Amino acid sequence: MSITGPGTKLSGREFDVATVRADFPILSRKINDHPLVYLDNAATTQKPRQVIDAISNYYEQTNSNVHRGVHTLSIEATDAYEVARAKVAKFINAPRPETVIWTRNTSESLNLVAATWADKNVGEGDNIVITAMEHHSNIVPWQQLAARKHAELRYLAAGKDGLLDMANIESTIDSRTKIVSATHISNVLGTVNPVAELANRAHEVGAVILIDAAQSVPHMAVDVQAIDADFLCFSAHKMLGPTGIGVLYGKYDLLDEMPPFMFGGDMILEVTYEDAKWNELPYKFEAGTPNIADAIATGVAVDYLTDLEMDNVWEHEQQLTAYALDRLTALNGITIFGPEDPALRGGVISFVHDKIHPHDLGTALDQQGIAIRTGHHCAMPLIRSYDVVAAARASFYVYNTKTEIDALVSGINDTERYFVR
Ligand code: ALA
Repeated sequence: MSITGPGTKLSGREFDVATVRADFPILSRKINDHPLVYLDNAATTQKPRQVIDAISNYYEQTNSNVHRGVHTLSIEATDAYEVARAKVAKFINAPRPETVIWTRNTSESLNLVAATWADKNVGEGDNIVITAMEHHSNIVPWQQLAARKHAELRYLAAGKDGLLDMANIESTIDSRTKIVSATHISNVLGTVNPVAELANRAHEVGAVILIDAAQSVPHMAVDVQAIDADFLCFSAHKMLGPTGIGVLYGKYDLLDEMPPFMFGGDMILEVTYEDAKWNELPYKFEAGTPNIADAIATGVAVDYLTDLEMDNVWEHEQQLTAYALDRLTALNGITIFGPEDPALRGGVISFVHDKIHPHDLGTALDQQGIAIRTGHHCAMPLIRSYDVVAAARASFYVYNTKTEIDALVSGINDTERYFVR
């Protein structure tokens, strides 16, 4: 199936969506007697056969602990675990593999930086700057830290156009700012934020920048060196990989100077009855037996995306998003949040219907096999700033098609006929 149409501008080799779809066993499932239309990719993505096989192959052929044994299985497991780390490093253009730390997910990565770098460097009277469009995971750790340190938590405002208000960037990020933590792509609005500009301003005042890339790394080519990110994090399960594993990238010198996050096996170099010395990077931040199988499977997810080419992934989603915006905007009673211009947003569209509650809409669509997310999307302050308590959200990925967007639109029409008489 071709995803191109007249006037489209694919820069690279187009990937074939039908071939991609054939790799995802779950996409042949029926839900409530309808073919599954999976449009909840910002919450988690589906997994291709290659990733699923990597997990079972690991347990069938290689299972062993890493960095501990001299036997063959342990050596093979260690090699595969470290190869996966190197693949992730290359994927985000990290300068060295040891600047990639395996965590459980984006939330843990954000908490790690708040509990280590920020705990050490933020003091009374300093400020922490985040944006008004953050996920709870990038709000609550900073609220807690600010309260503990008697520091100020500041927000870069977001306008009703769904864009960050950059006019006040110089007064908001000032000489008392120690860290700026911002989402690259909003999981509610889809807005692509100017993170390189934020990084530049943070560095001008001697602060560091942490980028929540949970909704960007899976969808676009992200280069941590081009952005000049000090820290950047994301989760494997939002990029075709397994749940329970995520990444924190950090500049080597920053990570090296940071205290550990958790204590235990593997993160130590030497332990006496009195004291301990920390291991080198990245192991200083990987206490205990890590999630070996899922790290290896994450490497396979990275291979899969690399093969599709991230510029193609982005273009595919841009086309779907532009098409969905057109079709949804044409419906009566729908309000769409986020930038009007599809070029300013990723493949996430949150919306409300003036007569159907999002939960009712989500439930009715599920009866037609269509999976969307409804609720506050873990961003209550942002959702409330739009004077609603919940929204419906459709989000796209490599296996989605315009036909599925047509199904969403006709599903909304059917629901409307049922609810609005
Ligand atoms: N953060 C995920 C979402 O936006 C779970 O749905």
